[in-house]
Amino acid sequence: MSSATTGSAGQGPHFRALLPQPQAEADLAAAYAYPENLTRPWLRANMVASADGGAWGPSGRTRDLSSPPDRAVMGVLRGQADVVLAGAGTARIEGYRPVRPREVWGDLREGRPATPPLAVVTRTLDVHPDLFEAAPPHARTIVLTTESAPAERRKEAARCADVVVAGEESVRPEAVLEALAERGLYRVLTEGGPHLLAEFTAAGLLDELCLTLSPRLLGPEATRIVAGAAPSHTHDLRMEGLLESEGSLFIRYVRG
Ligand SMILES: NC(=O)c1ccc[n+]([C@@H]2O[C@H](COP(=O)([O-])OP(=O)(O)OC[C@H]3O[C@@H](n4cnc5c(N)ncnc54)[C@H](OP(=O)(O)O)[C@@H]3O)[C@@H](O)[C@H]2O)c1
Repeated sequence: MSSATTGSAGQGPHFRALLPQPQAEADLAAAYAYPENLTRPWLRANMVASADGGAWGPSGRTRDLSSPPDRAVMGVLRGQADVVLAGAGTARIEGYRPVRPREVWGDLREGRPATPPLAVVTRTLDVHPDLFEAAPPHARTIVLTTESAPAERRKEAARCADVVVAGEESVRPEAVLEALAERGLYRVLTEGGPHLLAEFTAAGLLDELCLTLSPRLLGPEATRIVAGAAPSHTHDLRMEGLLESEGSLFIRYVRG
């Protein structure tokens, strides 16, 4: 067990497990391990919400909700993933850049490329150029876009990124997972945002939700972690794990 993935030894935040078994020192890598021997993409979402269900705060970003333990979990989840999937809104607002290796990953990426690529879903391709240009050769950014996207931007992006047309006017959630599977990327981590997540949940494609419940209230204006015009839907979830750190709860749900 490395100090990185315990999240408790050394200087990192301390996590205790409440479920499935109470443990004074939780091992994050073990708590968040993907299923072994996957034969299809496993779609995991990592989201943070306030105690009253809000998904972003007054800054318009998740930093109002996040905390050192939340960032520690995010780091481990990124280290475990084959690909990090985000909507272009999140990439723009949260200032996404290619994933950087973290010392705390320890041996999490043994036998795999040093970092996972980013996959960005977008109609406009209006994202920071570094998202494509600064990606290392082993983790070229994957752009999932539409036939209707501006041709010039698609051509420009294709100089450095892997551009996939995955729908006419709208990228189809199923086509995203198919494109990732074709590239052998099965451990999929989506970090939202709420509009993109709603499309995957509406399509019944979400396998796992890693939810941080942050000890704050945001009031009625904050959107939820699923938002937008996707059709309403209900799905049962089963709680597989529950950790606590510094007053935040870290809940791992899988499809019920
Ligand atoms: N609480 C959390 O855990 C969490 C997580 C992530 C983000 N956030 C917050 O959520 C906000 C952003 O959320 P959001 O829901 O607006 O953003 P989002 O879902 O990340 O991005 C929406 C954008 O993604 C692209 N997109 C989504 N579905 C598409 C489809 N089917 N086909 C083609 N393109 C598609 C479009 O990009 P184009 O406009 O480029 O076409 C769309 O405008 C930010 O404030 C962020 O801080 C919160």
